[in-house]
Amino acid sequence: MAVTITDLLAFKQRSERFAMLTAYDALTARLLDEAGVPVLLVGDSLAQVVLGYDSTVPVSMEEMLHHTRAVARGARNALIVGDLPFASYQASVEDGMRNAFRFLKEAGAHAVKLEGAHLDLVRRLTEAGVPVMGHLGLTPQSVNVLGGYKVQGRSDEQANRIVLDAKALEEAGCFAIVLECVPADLAARITGQLTIPTIGIGAGPGCDGQVLVIQDLLGLTERVPRFVKRYADGRSTIAEAASRFIGEVRDGSFPDDEHSYR
Ligand code: KIV
Repeated sequence: MAVTITDLLAFKQRSERFAMLTAYDALTARLLDEAGVPVLLVGDSLAQVVLGYDSTVPVSMEEMLHHTRAVARGARNALIVGDLPFASYQASVEDGMRNAFRFLKEAGAHAVKLEGAHLDLVRRLTEAGVPVMGHLGLTPQSVNVLGGYKVQGRSDEQANRIVLDAKALEEAGCFAIVLECVPADLAARITGQLTIPTIGIGAGPGCDGQVLVIQDLLGLTERVPRFVKRYADGRSTIAEAASRFIGEVRDGSFPDDEHSYR
């Protein structure tokens, strides 16, 4: 059955924790969907883990839409969330509306995610029928203002700001909020004060859901932050398969009869 934003709210009401993973292509989306992942995020981490940019700042709307379409073709039941990239919504509410509509109309997303407390935009999108996921704490699109990828909310002042922003986003209409790289007790405090689910990444066990970047989870990325748990050793699996292939091509044992036509 197709997952909806109402299901996520019901998870929270039943205290049932849920998973979200990023996906950027149809095959991965199909596999994760079949594994039962309820929410697939076409994150702007696409920029770094797939496209080779050194931050999320350069990724374009066209690149995000291209990959969201692929994910929408692969997934059957998961709720697909498209990440509004840097400069697609910060300049004006109109920009944000136009670009968010494109995720739903042209790419098959069911919702969009945006970073920071853009309350007017969240309000307008929700009124217009676009479900919005918020994102607070470490907001990678602002890396140049934050001065690096650092834990946010360690001081009382910062922590109170994040709590207030989370409440304001809920009030403006967000159906869920990602909390990235904040102390576990702050994330738990926010989770306890909201009726919408929080989804943590580097935010401890007190959130309603957890999200990871799929390449990190599979052990494909070279360097990962402390909060990432690798559930597979994808780098070794690929390196070993590639070197066996090289060897068998060199020594002529591939292709053998079984892998040839008569
Ligand atoms: O782009 C992304 O992958 C994200 C997650 C880290 C939440 O925003």
